[in-house]
Amino acid sequence: MLEHDIDHVLFSEEQLKTRVAEIAAQIDKDYEGKEPLLISILRGSFVFMADLVRQIHVPCTVDFMAVSSYGSGTVSSGQVKIVKDLSEPIEGKDILVVEDILDSGNTLSYLLKLLEARHPASIRLCTLLDKPERRTKPVAVQYSGFSIPDEFVVGYGLDYDEKYRNLPYIGVLKPSVYGGK
Ligand code: IMP
Ligand code: MG
Repeated sequence: MLEHDIDHVLFSEEQLKTRVAEIAAQIDKDYEGKEPLLISILRGSFVFMADLVRQIHVPCTVDFMAVSSYGSGTVSSGQVKIVKDLSEPIEGKDILVVEDILDSGNTLSYLLKLLEARHPASIRLCTLLDKPERRTKPVAVQYSGFSIPDEFVVGYGLDYDEKYRNLPYIGVLKPSVYGGK
């Protein structure tokens, strides 16, 4: 069972639900009269994105982009690869990028540059989790769910080696699972 690999739960389903609703309320306020395009960065943000859009009341559209930066380890390779690009042009649109976790900042700083070059009207970032201690590239985030310490977390869309995404909560993985002590 996946649950056996979890050391402890960091955020329960209930805590996630409450925080996602708060972020959505802030987005509703900030985008009043606008029609943001939410871009979910796959695969990690798919659960957060699905919950977030259902709490947002301003009209919005969605698109998806897949990038890979990690391989199967727990440390960023620093290389970001576009695995799947957006389906539509974003020129003139109000973009909200939705990420699962901001770690080194590599992925988002790279993506931001790439998306800015396509001339959207505005671009903001929304991340469910943030590990500020780990940042090597500065990234400005307008919406952040929780700041967390430097521990590897899984669940609610986040994976280790593509597994654990289906856990409904966010938990800290036992280091023994990835070869630690
Ligand atoms: P960054 O480029 O180092 O900021 O890494 C961002 C990406 O790394 C996220 O989108 C996740 O896919 C992955 N990542 C970073 N930390 C964790 C973690 O604790 N658990 C699962 N994935 C993580
Ligand atoms: Mg990942």
